[in-house]
Amino acid sequence: MASLKNKLMNTVIEPMSHGRSKVTVVGVGQVGMACAFSLLANGVSNELVLVDVMADKLKGEMLDLQHGTAFVKNPKIDASTDYAATANSSVCVVTAGARQREGETRLDLVQRNTDIFKGIIPQLVKYSPDAVLLIVSNPVDILTYVAWKLSGLPKNRVIGSGTNLDSARFRFLLSQKLNVASTSCHGWIIGEHGDTSGKLPKIFLNLHTFMTHVYMTDKNSFLSVISPRESRNVPLSANQISIAISHHVKHK
Ligand SMILES: NC(=O)c1ccc[n+]([C@@H]2O[C@H](COP(=O)([O-])OP(=O)(O)OC[C@H]3O[C@@H](n4cnc5c(N)ncnc54)[C@H](O)[C@@H]3O)[C@@H](O)[C@H]2O)c1
Repeated sequence: MASLKNKLMNTVIEPMSHGRSKVTVVGVGQVGMACAFSLLANGVSNELVLVDVMADKLKGEMLDLQHGTAFVKNPKIDASTDYAATANSSVCVVTAGARQREGETRLDLVQRNTDIFKGIIPQLVKYSPDAVLLIVSNPVDILTYVAWKLSGLPKNRVIGSGTNLDSARFRFLLSQKLNVASTSCHGWIIGEHGDTSGKLPKIFLNLHTFMTHVYMTDKNSFLSVISPRESRNVPLSANQISIAISHHVKHK
């Protein structure tokens, strides 16, 4: 006979299955929590684990996210200083590390963050041998290499956030200059994510700004500037245009 509970309650939404999209975020500082919030808000992950060395802060951040689960897609959120909680993650995002002190460059952080990584990366790999590692801590390009070496994983499974942030900033600057939505402005900053990348965007920005201006005003002449082969009167996607710009820059 059906229980009273079963008679009164109908399943409106199935609990999310937990398993394939478990994500671990190591480091619950400003960057780690921005990653965690973004993962949840975009419904990327149905199981999120936070790890940090500061137990109190970790618990507070976990509770804040858990208290917000009514507004997202019913994810499971856990936090621990013990890496066993991260077992079987598909992706591990590493944002843990020392911050730059005043007057320090990102490169000055290398040794301190390498030492921190020695305690993090082997633990992540031990519990999630099939995971992809996404490195964000600075200096990100060097630490991605360090993480790859410490992990013993194939190189396609250790990825750095690279110049994604610089490129996003660049697209915003373009959007301000051109009064166009940044989603419609395309381009990349290339090179290292660090103080040395500052020189490249200057050249890049000027060239991109110029190209984008030309494109906005006269698409056909823009296409012939970029590549005579592309100057057929066919619509190019924004992505193709970005590739053409990069190609053009590379062969300048
Ligand atoms: N790649 C990028 O585009 C980008 C952008 C911004 C910041 N960053 C970098 O991200 C990192 C984090 O920045 P933030 O502003 O969040 O710093 P933060 O100081 O707010 O947070 C760092 C967190 O790491 C934790 N931590 C330190 N050692 C640890 C360890 N051994 N194990 C686990 N957790 C540990 C700290 O307790 C802290 O909560 C920095 O290295 C920063 O330079 C990268």
